[in-house]
Order: sequence, then C-alpha cells, then structure tokens
Amino acid sequence: MSAAQMLASWIKDQKLKAPTMKDGPSFYRNLEEALDVRRADHSMFTRNTSAWKTGSAVDFCSNDLLSLGQTGRMRSAFLEELARHPNFNLYSGGSRLMDGNYQYIEQVEQEIADFHGAETALIVGSGYEANIAMYSAIPRPGDAIVYDELVHASTHDGMSHTLALCKMPFRHNDVDSFRDVMTSVMDSQPAIRDGSRSILVSVESVYSMDGDVCPLEDLLEVSREICPKGNAVFIVDEAHATGILGPKGAGLVNALGVEKSIAVRLHTCGKAMASTGAVILGNASVRSTIMNFARSVIYTTAPSFPTVAAIRAGYNLLKTGETQDAQGHIQRLVKHFFTTIASNPVWDEASEMGILSIPLIDDWESRDFLVHIVPLWTRQRYNFWLVFHLQLSGFCAFPIDYPTVPKGQSRIRLIFHGANTEADVEGLAATICNWAQEMIDIEKKGAGAKKVPKAAQQVYALMANV
Ligand SMILES: Cc1ncc(COP(=O)(O)O)c(C=O)c1O
Repeated sequence: MSAAQMLASWIKDQKLKAPTMKDGPSFYRNLEEALDVRRADHSMFTRNTSAWKTGSAVDFCSNDLLSLGQTGRMRSAFLEELARHPNFNLYSGGSRLMDGNYQYIEQVEQEIADFHGAETALIVGSGYEANIAMYSAIPRPGDAIVYDELVHASTHDGMSHTLALCKMPFRHNDVDSFRDVMTSVMDSQPAIRDGSRSILVSVESVYSMDGDVCPLEDLLEVSREICPKGNAVFIVDEAHATGILGPKGAGLVNALGVEKSIAVRLHTCGKAMASTGAVILGNASVRSTIMNFARSVIYTTAPSFPTVAAIRAGYNLLKTGETQDAQGHIQRLVKHFFTTIASNPVWDEASEMGILSIPLIDDWESRDFLVHIVPLWTRQRYNFWLVFHLQLSGFCAFPIDYPTVPKGQSRIRLIFHGANTEADVEGLAATICNWAQEMIDIEKKGAGAKKVPKAAQQVYALMANV
C-alpha cells in the first residue's frame, strides 16, 4: 500500500457513520455513535498497513527497533531454534499453574534470568498482561504506589486492580517532585513509616512518548534517604530499553549495575526482540506471588513452545552480541539526526517561530544515553500537515494524539532503527526542514495567503474524492 493509498483509506475511515444508520438496529448505531466521537476529531484508529511494510517508504515508526524483523534475522534465528526441537508442541496444555508448565519454558526462563542478573524470570503473553499481573498481585494491602506520571497505560490498568492503599504520581522524571511525594506518603502512612508496609516505586527506563531516560540512580538515592528502613522497592518497566541500552541490550538496570536494588523488572519481546511476549524478573517470592495472585496469569493458557522459542531466539541474538552493532548504530543515527537537522539553514528560524521543536535536541551531548525515540513537535494544528508531508515524501512516521498523550500535547514520534541508514536520516531531516520552510513562507505571507501546505492540499483533494 502506498502512502497516498494509506492516507486515503485512513481519511475514508474518519467519515461519520451513525447519521447514515438512522433506521438501522440501535445496537450497531450506538456503537457507531461512540466511534463517531473519535471520527469527529480524526482520531479513529484504523487497520492500515504502513507503507514501509511494502518497501515503498522508510520506517521511522515501528517497534522493530533493531530491525531483526525487517531483515529476516529473527525469522532465521527462530527457524534454527525450531530445528533444534523438531518434536515441539503447539499447545502448552493449560494454565501455568496446572498443565501448562513444561521443562523448556523453565529452562528458557532461567537463561533469561541469568542474562539479566536476576534470580528468576517468568514468561507471560505480553507486556500489557505482565503489568496487569504485577500491579494486581504484588502490592499488599497498606502498601503505597508512587509512580511517574507518564507510566504506560498498562501500568495504569494494572494499578486500577491493586490492593495498595494509595497511588500517588510524581512529576515526570522530576527528582524533587519524587522526593516530595515520597515524603508525603511517609508522613501520612504510619505503617509505611514504621517499616511494616512498603512503597512500590513504578518507573520506566525509557518513556515511550518522550524518549527520555529515567534518572534511576537519583531516584534510588532519594528513596534510601526517605525510607532508611529499606521498605521502598522499585518496579522498572524496561520495554523500550530492552535491546537498546546496557551491555548486550540487557536494559538500563544492567547498564547502571543496580540489579540488586530493583525488586521487579519487565522486559517485553515485541519491540527490539521482534516477536511477542514479556518477561517479569524478580526473586522467588515475587514470582510465586504473581503465579498465585495474578488473575491474568492464573486464568489463561501458558505461553506455548513457539512463543517461548521465539523469545529464546531473540535473547540468543542479544547474548551472542550479534545485536550490538545495531544498538550502537541507533545511537549514532540519533546523533546524526540531531546534528543534521540543527545545522539545516531553516532550523533556527523554524524553532524561533515555534514551527519546529525537538526537546531532546537540547544538550544531547551531555546525556549518558541516547535512545531510539525522538518526539518532533510543531504547532498543534500543523501536526497532521507535517505527517502528510512526511508520508507523501516516503517517510513513515505517525502522530501521537489524545488519549495516548494529554490533549494539546500531540507530537510526531520518530523512531530510529538498526536498518535505517545515515542517508535515510539526512533525507528525513531535509524533508522536515523543507516543510518548515513552506510553513515559514505561508506564515510570513500573512492572512491573505493560501494557508494550506502542498502535501495537505494533496490529502484534502483525496478526501474530496472519498
Ligand atoms: C512501557 C511499556 N510497557 C508495556 C508495554 C506493553 O507491551 P506489549 O506490547 O508486549 O503488550 C508497552 C507497549 O507499548 C510499553 O511501551
């Protein structure tokens, strides 16, 4: 599917439907009325096939971070793993607690635990399921959860099932705000103050919408200071750090060498490791707690051999060091993007006028880690115009909108991959700046000028024909 076809189909899906169903069955009309609320502000999710999948555009959006999927490397590693186990079963036989346990899954879990320097690992169906399991099972009545305000939706959904007494957010990556919230929990909860209950601190290594890295060591230090009895424990979601940060891509916790200070870690396999599933790391008490109290683990079929074999194949690629080149390449690409776009003659004016902004570009040289996610901001009303321009120029990138981010904070999320080239990055930076120049010209011409940039005109013309 070309980018133009993809956009045309997306536009078609944004047309209101309920008004055409006045005499239809009320059940379906009511569903469409609810969907029309999304269509009305062009936020209806659809099932489009991205143009990069057909080779007609460059991928600056997918979660195939190390490009192990796109290059076929993951497929060959998986097939090799299958060949080593020709008599494999497609079924697991039941819940993990009943007939779903088997030797191979236990062996792979131990290998993964060893790789990350953890005591145990538990494989589950997805990162979403893992967060539901962790937050519904681990906090005990009387515990508190202190969480970064930008934690993933799955953590929020997990927390909505928690037994914790209170849940308190702190400002994103803000160590002072963390200190204030921790202090206020200590002051207000005698059982936590006397050390008989715990504070569970929930953070992510890399935040998926902002692309910034958690100041984990600083947070650990504050928590030790505020909770000297050692009853503040950390749960770290490494979904976006897996394969990207740390030795052989083991994650932020391994990169910082703080394995012993973190109670629970989550690694997902649907991103850099190009398959599906997730792994919860912790000690034996944590694993038994999840297996005994997490309904999302108890009342579901255990992951079967193909899922676990794919996870093992992905981990083998990390462990052998095969992915390290791609890991380093992503760091270099992001630097190259920052320097290329910042040296474009349009950049300064576009940033001064508020037409372009990349928060992560400021002082990137002083940061310990660069990651694959770079949010690109423009005026809220220009967001789609820039996306149309990128898509029609052969660069796949998507807007991130409400409800994924708060209203008024829409942005375009660029994701850099192992298989992207320096030329791709230069093309991307030039395309963004060409569009910015067009917008500068439009804005400078003032009210009488034709206000819509070329790519948007093309898309609106498509819209008129749908
Ligand atoms: C931080 C974070 N945690 C958890 C998940 C869920 O992982 P999965 O896609 O395996 O369900 C995601 C997915 O985007 C994520 O970004």
